Parts: sequence; structure tokens; C-alpha cells
Amino acid sequence: MSQKFNRYTVTAALPYANGPVHIGHLAGVYVPADIYVRYLRAQGKDVAFVCGSDEHGVAITLKARKEGVSPQEIVDKYHAIIKKSFEELGISFDIYSRTSSKVHHETSAEMFKELFDKGVFEEQVSSQYYDEEAGQFLADRYIVGTCPNCGNENAYGDQCEKCGISLSPAELINPRSALSGAQPVLKETKHWYLPMQDYENWLRQWILQGHKEWKPNVYGQCKSWLDTGLKPRAMTRDLDWGVRVPLAGAEGKVLYVWFDAPIGYISATKEWADAQGKDWESYWRAEDTRLIHFIGKDNIVFHCIIFPSILKADGNYILPDNVPANEFLNLEGDKISTSRNWAVWLHEYLQELPGKEDVLRYVLCANAPETKDNDFTWKDFQARNNNELVAIYGNFVNRALVLTHKYYEGRVPAAGDLAPIDQETIDKVRQAPGKISKALENFKFREALVEFMDLARVGNKYLADTEPWKLIKENPDRVNTILNIALQIVANLSILGEPFLPKTSKKLAAILGSANGSWTTVGQADLLQPGHQVNKVELLFEKIEDSVMEEQVLKLQNTKKQNEPVPEVSVDPAKPEITFDDFVKLDIRVGTVLEAEAMPKSKKLLKLKVDTGIDQRTILSGIAQHFSPAEIIGQQVSVLVNLAPRKMMGVESQGMILMAEDSNGDLRFILPSEQVNNGALVS
Ligand code: 2FM
Ligand code: ZN
Repeated sequence: MSQKFNRYTVTAALPYANGPVHIGHLAGVYVPADIYVRYLRAQGKDVAFVCGSDEHGVAITLKARKEGVSPQEIVDKYHAIIKKSFEELGISFDIYSRTSSKVHHETSAEMFKELFDKGVFEEQVSSQYYDEEAGQFLADRYIVGTCPNCGNENAYGDQCEKCGISLSPAELINPRSALSGAQPVLKETKHWYLPMQDYENWLRQWILQGHKEWKPNVYGQCKSWLDTGLKPRAMTRDLDWGVRVPLAGAEGKVLYVWFDAPIGYISATKEWADAQGKDWESYWRAEDTRLIHFIGKDNIVFHCIIFPSILKADGNYILPDNVPANEFLNLEGDKISTSRNWAVWLHEYLQELPGKEDVLRYVLCANAPETKDNDFTWKDFQARNNNELVAIYGNFVNRALVLTHKYYEGRVPAAGDLAPIDQETIDKVRQAPGKISKALENFKFREALVEFMDLARVGNKYLADTEPWKLIKENPDRVNTILNIALQIVANLSILGEPFLPKTSKKLAAILGSANGSWTTVGQADLLQPGHQVNKVELLFEKIEDSVMEEQVLKLQNTKKQNEPVPEVSVDPAKPEITFDDFVKLDIRVGTVLEAEAMPKSKKLLKLKVDTGIDQRTILSGIAQHFSPAEIIGQQVSVLVNLAPRKMMGVESQGMILMAEDSNGDLRFILPSEQVNNGALVS
């Protein structure tokens, strides 16, 4: 660990509060960030781990519109869900704030004003689409039209979701407003731009020369942006949801969400520091503070190029020392997609697989998309739980503790003379913390987890090789030594595993009757003193049965079915034209089914007694294969009441119940949209 840093500010990307978080977010950002921070804290480092909900931007206003509620209602709902689920998974933020907070609005508006006063922004007037009916400018997502690439008539102004091509609104054929459907007009509007091109040389120097140690995927993406050349970027938008632009004459304009969101890290730090009686500035301005951003690969340009340029332009802030961005996690071979509901949602996982928080952390870390996109499958999840957590870590700990209870009534025995195998094993314990640290320092979380599990493997092998259960009678002194060493390994695992599996370590520390130790004592074979009493044994992990996984797989299969396009149905050909006089001859009324019974010997017919408002009459209806008699008693129906009576199977039917057939061939009743009185005319 570098000695020049005395303090750490660790940020995790602020998730948009327009939906819950899923396993892709966790594997990419929150699990590695939490492991790193827990590791720093275990070393006694001074850390601020900040995050919060990203509550601005067009995605949120669109979602609110779709659901017919206010943007504030949307963010309130998802902020609560996200915050709670992070807590339950054990993501140990020092603060989980939100960008609709007062402190954030003030902080980001102030920062904008400071940059404005310094003359950092370029003002530009440009023509943007405007909806005259709705009286507002249209964000790219609010403009729909025909995709010039594939002909999809509902492409968005920034992207066609059918063919995936990136678009600008001007490229759409026949653009229309998603708000009113009106054809938008171009209207001039003023915005404030960050002249990114002015920072290009500095960025080249700072990243391409100064941060060659950044992960290749991050460094490579930065290089590609810089090689393409940077252009001015608007830092404001015409929108009525967000942080108001703090300038006269900027009514109806807000800060661009990607201007204010990263400042959310600073606002959150302020809020936390205030509550703790600390000085927020030291976490953002002191040269001996190390700033690290954990993000997914889609956020690289904002965290490595745009936000640093803003911080640099301000001049009073430190810059990120590393941005260990991950690639994406796929799910069962398909891209995770919120709109297609193709995801494992954290809040649902926590409910459906209670007590398995650490299993999810383990699997997402073991399979983290650190260098390339990776796939999550329930089969792999089960295998990692059963073959690794249960069979290696859990099994070793259990064996060591059970033997201690069996031979020593739970008291740690004293070690005697060491055999070569003991010394070799102790050496491996000594080396483990260094190996794990080295991997974590380099943001190689998968490797760190492998090193950790290797120590559990060492323990398992040690017991298998020394076979204390065979020696207890003739050589009890030897068994004292073996069990002492095995228990020291267990104690080391409980400390070293804490960043990865915090709940398990807590449980294990409670069994051992010792608080979680720290990285300063770990690696020693004397963490538990002879005579120390350990508590009752409990299993750390349990096997996951096939049936549990099958339920999850079925859930995904159902999602897939729902996403399948509805097959096109053939529509009956149009009937010949009729006159209005023809139509008014039909006397259609709303009625209610009073009684229903199956017609003997008929597969199709039900015999109904219907209150038509005029009378109560018998109607035979061919719906027996779709409805049981019991389920339609009380059902409102539409009845053609002046149809000539007709005798079928000896019973006279006095009218007809109107039905529609859906695309599966199932029958549906034709109903008024709300309950009306029997006898009401349908006309
Ligand atoms: O991509 C996202 O989900 C963004 N809400 C991340 C923002 S990170 C930071 F800048 F706040
Ligand atoms: Zn297209």
C-alpha cells in the first residue's frame, strides 16, 4: 500500500432511482467497492465510502410519465428499495444519500456557479426540438420517429431500440413528440458547454502518461475517447426536473444529470462529515487523500474524462487516483435488461433466498466481470455454493470445531513440538494475508477470493493429511498440536474473509468467541490462546437443493415467455356494410347471470338464467369449455335480447350472450368498463 495516502474517499456509482438494483450492478460496482472498503477499514484506514441515489435525468421523468405519477414519487419509491436492499446485502456505505437532497442541490448549483464565474463555460445557442402543444423543449428520449436504419417507427431521438443504432433527433424520419404526438418544431435555446477540447492535452498527460497502471479496459477506453478528439458538451438541459441552473435568464433549465450526479459524491461526503463532526474538505481537497471511483464500464467517460475536467477546472479538488471499472455481467447467456425484466433483482433475491447474502457476494466476486463480460447462471451459483462454500470452507471449519468439542470440550489445546507439515502449514497461513492484500490493492478481487479460499483448502488438506481422529488414542499430544493449528487457521479465515463474506465472518467470530481481528494480527498462528473456550458449532453454509434453483430458472423462463412477441393473429374478414337502421334493430342490454348449470349431454353449452333488466330468462351459451358454472354466477354480460328464441337439446334459448375470442382462442365477456344497471342499452 502506498504510503503517501492517509485517507481514502471511495465512491460507488450512484444508481438511478428509476428501478431496483440487480446482480449486474452488484458484480460490476457495489460488491468490489464494499470488499475494498472493508479491507481498508480492517487495516485501520480512514475511509469515507459514499454513495446515493441518482434522482435526476430524463429516464426518471419518462418513468414517472409512464406510470402517471410525479418524478418525486418515483425516486422516493426506488430510493427506499435500493437503500434497504444494499443494507441487507451488507454493503457498508458510510452514507447512502440522494441527489434530490437540499445539500446536493446547493452543492452542485454552487459548483456550476463557480465555474460560470471563472468563465469556464462556453455559451452556445442551438436549435432544439420543441413541442408547441406541451410548451416545452424535448429531450432526445422524448422524440420518437422512424429509424433511418431499420424503419422501426418508434425509434427514440437518441437510439433505436430495435436495431440498436445510436441516433440524434435530427436523423429521425417524421419525428413526433412523445408528450403530445405533435410534430416538434426547431427552436433556439441557450446552453452552457464545457469546452472538453481545452482539456484534451491535460487529460492525455494525466491519464495516458500518469496512470498507465489503470486497468487495461479503463485505460483503453480513455485512450480511444482522447484519440477520437473531444468536443464541447452541454452541461445544462431544458427540463423541469433536476437542479435549477443558478443563473438569471435560465428559467426552465436544469443542470445536465451527468454534471450533477458525480458532484453527488461530494454532497454525500458533506452530509456524512457534518453528521460525524468531520471535515468534508479533507476527503476532497487534501493531497494525501486517495480518491477511488468504483463504476461500470458505461460510466468510464464520465468518471475519467468529464468529471475530472470539472474538478480540474474548479481547481480546488483532488482527482481520482484510480477508477477500477468493471465490464458487464450477463444473465444465463443474455444481456441483463431492465425493460425486458431480464435480471435477478437484489430485493427479490433477498426475499426468495433469505440468509444467503454472502453466497451472492461470493458468487458475484468469484465470477466478477473484471476483464471481460461474464455470465451468471443459477447452475454456477449452486455449484459454487455446494462445491466451494459448503464443501471447502464450511466443511473445514466444521471439522475443526467438531473435533475440538469432541476431544477438548471446546477448549483450544496447546501446541507442542512442530512437525515439518505443521511448519509448512503455518508458513502458508503467514503468507495468505500478503497475497490477498496484493490482489486487493490491484483491484483483482477474483484473485483475492481465490487466495482466501486457498487458505481454507490448506486447512482441509492439513486435517486430511494429519488425520487427528486416528491418533487421538495413541498420540494425544500430537492431536493437541494439530487441532491448535487447525483452529488458528479457522481464526485467520474469519478475519481474512470479512471483506468478502461479512455475515459469515461475524457468525464465525461469534462461534470462536473472539471479535473479528484486524489485518495487523492476521497471519499468525496464535490468534486463539490455549484454554480459550469456543462456542457451540453451527454450520456456516448449507447445501442448495436442485428444487430451489429450478424455481429461479422457471422464473426466468416465464420472463422469457412474456418477452416473446405476441404471434400475429388472423382477423376475421370484414362483413358487408349495414345501415344505421339495421344496427338499431339489435336490442343489446347489460344483464347479470343469476344461475348457471351444465347442460346434460352437452360439452359446449351452459344453461344460464340471466336478469336482463326487462325480465329473467333462460339463455343457452356455448361457453362450457371456457367457464365453469360456478365462476360465472354474478357475472355481468351483454345480451342480445331480441334474437328469435331457439330450441336446443329440448331447451328454449331466449337471447345470446356476446363474447370475444382472444388470440389463444379463449372467450372473454363483453362488458361495460364499469358496472351499470341491468337493462342498460348498449348502443
Ligand atoms: O449509470 C448510472 O446508473 C448512473 N446513475 C451513474 C452515476 S455515477 C455518478 F456519477 F453519480
Ligand atoms: Zn433501427
